[in-house]
Amino acid sequence: MNVSARIVDGTEISRAIRAEVAAEVAQLRAAGVVPGLAVVLVGADGASEVYVRSKARACREAGMHDRTLHLPAEVTAEELYGVIDGLNADPDIHGILLQLPLPAHLNPKPFLERIDAAKDVDGFHPLNVGRAFIGDPRGFVPATPAGIMEMIRREQIPTQGRHAVIVGRSLIVSKPLMSLLMAPGPNAGVTLVHRHTPDIAPFTRMADILIVAVGKPGLVTADMVKPGAAVFDVGITRVPDPADPRGYRVVGDVDHAGVSEVAGAITPVPGGVGPMTIAMLLRNTVEAARRDAARTRKRDRRRAAP
Ligand code: GUN
Repeated sequence: MNVSARIVDGTEISRAIRAEVAAEVAQLRAAGVVPGLAVVLVGADGASEVYVRSKARACREAGMHDRTLHLPAEVTAEELYGVIDGLNADPDIHGILLQLPLPAHLNPKPFLERIDAAKDVDGFHPLNVGRAFIGDPRGFVPATPAGIMEMIRREQIPTQGRHAVIVGRSLIVSKPLMSLLMAPGPNAGVTLVHRHTPDIAPFTRMADILIVAVGKPGLVTADMVKPGAAVFDVGITRVPDPADPRGYRVVGDVDHAGVSEVAGAITPVPGGVGPMTIAMLLRNTVEAARRDAARTRKRDRRRAAP
């Protein structure tokens, strides 16, 4: 019988980051700046409403200003553009997050592009996607991959020359993670496989760091994991569970019990990557507020100059 993997506790790590964020917010407030995050939620989606409430609570706990705009599912494109334009122009708002998914009649792309890139704390605007890809620090990195990189750093998981294998090809998690892991600094080699890869097991078995982000419960089993690997489970799927008072429980993409017997470190679901996401979103918002304050100071200096 193998020794069980070390559990990488996202709840605890995110608590530490949120405390750091709160200290930075206190400093900014002392200088007259209150970082503000606006979340735009369109229609009624149970899971989204839960996320949005926890984002708002986390903002308040960190001393930040939060605003939630809940729009009806029937909102027109023109109305939604108007809301985004208003937030772009609002000096109290430093970060704007358009909660996805949108109702089926609205393609998210033009709305994400309408958000001022300087307020795009989700990192979904093409300008920020491009900046993150070329390693330009002015970009905002999406919260989930940023959270995974932060867990890797704080848990001192070696990346230099190691082989990271990513399962999934999403723009929100896998693509940014690919460029973050291979960048100077982490210096990992990266392989990415996805739903059209006929057999992912030969690849996952080569991973020193395995990141699974597809939303298929139980996809990765113990026989697919290299002994000692660090496993990050990004899946969040609700499965029916009559024993749970909510009628469901949340599971990841990794067979946690089985893989824990083989891996060196593993994130649980819930309580792994999930809580990191909100912490990193707050951090991006504080960074957006800091940059805005710096721009304002520069503008004021220029105006004051003779
Ligand atoms: N829906 C689920 N996760 C996210 C996220 O990180 N950002 C946005 N905008 N929508 C989401």
